[in-house]
Amino acid sequence: MLKFDVVTVFPEYLEPLKLSLMGKAIDDGLMSVDVHDLRDKTHDKHKTVDDSPYGGGPGMVMKPEPWGDMLDDLVNDETVLIIPTPSGKQFTHSMAANFATKKHIIFACGRYEGIDSRVAQHYKTRIRVEEVSIGDYVLAGGEVAVLVMVEAIARLIPGVLGNQESAVDDSFALGSMENLLEGQIYTRPPVWRDLEVPAILTSGDHAKVAAWRHEQAVERTRQNRPDLLGE
Ligand code: ADE
Repeated sequence: MLKFDVVTVFPEYLEPLKLSLMGKAIDDGLMSVDVHDLRDKTHDKHKTVDDSPYGGGPGMVMKPEPWGDMLDDLVNDETVLIIPTPSGKQFTHSMAANFATKKHIIFACGRYEGIDSRVAQHYKTRIRVEEVSIGDYVLAGGEVAVLVMVEAIARLIPGVLGNQESAVDDSFALGSMENLLEGQIYTRPPVWRDLEVPAILTSGDHAKVAAWRHEQAVERTRQNRPDLLGE
């Protein structure tokens, strides 16, 4: 059972985590998701969570006190604290696989320019803290990044994917097709708008199918992600 806690000033943003694959994983007792409103840890009339940055500059910075009060309630010895930020390490499939083995993950969603850096600094002395970016672009806050990461992690929790689906052939799944992207895929009908399914796939020759798929994967990787081939 992997317990996710998400701290945010927009709890509604995380509603989709109850749907589909993740909703089923929750119903099946394989994971849980609890969303916490950071404003519950403010004590002023305006429920203030941000303030202007020391040293000047645009935007606002999230104050450390509400974060400290909230995280102190949630952390335990087994917690991994993930802070989504465009300044973090790049989120990858292997990182997701590692997180999928954990018991407890807290996501701290920053808004505005981010969270006072002493929050990460403090919790690093107590637990594992990871600052993680989902890509080289800037979102308005960490919530959407959490949706991405929870979905990527959840499907790697044993039992979440059924026997029909499997994570091993995915693009980036380690130990399957090296570090290749998945190639083309087809289903019925055999001809659609004059386009035929490649004959090899209906040949019944499994070795040839596997070799063809590998070639297609290499070609697609060369087209879309030459960096993965070291090119
Ligand atoms: N918050 C804002 N931009 C982000 C990104 N690219 N990844 C993770 N969290 C973010």
